[in-house]
Amino acid sequence: MTVSLTAPPAPVGAGLFVARPTGQHLLGLEGLSASTLLELLTDAAREREWLRRSQPSRDDLAGCNVLLTFIEDSTRTRTSFELAAKRLGASVTTFSAGHSSMNKGESLLDTLRLFEAMHGDVIVIRHAASGTPHYLARLMGTAIVNAGDGMHEHPTQGLLDLLTLSDAWGGEFAGRRIAILGDIAHSRVARSAIFGLTTLGVRVTVAGPATLLPNEVEQLGVDVAPTVEDAMRGADAVMGLRLQRERMERGLLPSLNEYASEWGITEKRVALMKPDAPVLHPGPVNRGIELAPEVADGPRSRILPQVENGVAVRCAVLKRCWRARCARNGRVVEGA
Ligand code: NCD
Repeated sequence: MTVSLTAPPAPVGAGLFVARPTGQHLLGLEGLSASTLLELLTDAAREREWLRRSQPSRDDLAGCNVLLTFIEDSTRTRTSFELAAKRLGASVTTFSAGHSSMNKGESLLDTLRLFEAMHGDVIVIRHAASGTPHYLARLMGTAIVNAGDGMHEHPTQGLLDLLTLSDAWGGEFAGRRIAILGDIAHSRVARSAIFGLTTLGVRVTVAGPATLLPNEVEQLGVDVAPTVEDAMRGADAVMGLRLQRERMERGLLPSLNEYASEWGITEKRVALMKPDAPVLHPGPVNRGIELAPEVADGPRSRILPQVENGVAVRCAVLKRCWRARCARNGRVVEGA
């Protein structure tokens, strides 16, 4: 049985971090219209076709200085932003906080203002504090792209998840239902996915230990199921989430073994979904905890297609931000 919490899909955190779409920035999926989302997905699908052909790099972002600023660990997001920016002809600089004057007490804002003074255009930022990109977008003249802010949003991950689901569902979102499982409370991936999916008419059922569901879960416009089985039965897709132990207070989980047996995505549970319903996970995966290895490597897994889609989505996002920035500054962009 699924318990429906019937609150309307109101934006959570409204007034706190919501920045309306989007101008030169991409701060979150909350508040983006269905047509903006679909435009980005259509462009990303086009970029993916181009990337698959291994053509020489293009010059859509010629003249654009991109700074990659990851003040939190990253593998997929950082490398795919770098690849996307370089394949489209941007100049890319990677900022490493660990070897910078931030160690001498310089603030993040003062540090990033240096990049602005060096004629930087786009800052791609990941930070452990929710709201950092929104703060920077208010105070700086550069375009800001959120690559994951604390427990808040991870918009390009949300877009690549939408693209992956669009492929599995033949481009039809309305009337579908997805189960999102596990550590919803600490997951910026879940929040961006929920904002994007509900905007496109997808029903979302979440399930996880009560300690790992956010207090305001009913305001996210999702259903809450009491068990994994309830959430997955008849679903059109499932998304597993990594246990974000770095963001947890102690005592939120009984034990990893108990978590795996009660909430893990196993082959038996996957069989409860509709035939061919895909399994998504943003990575990195804790194998054997939130996802059984045979599911991670199995025929329904879309983990690697998600990674491929990440590069295409980031191409589409960077182009959009650059175009908006050029329009704002009265600069002509060739081929835009
Ligand atoms: C996620 C993140 O960092 O938010 N990873 C990613 O970007 N693919 C999820 C995670 O770390 O669990």
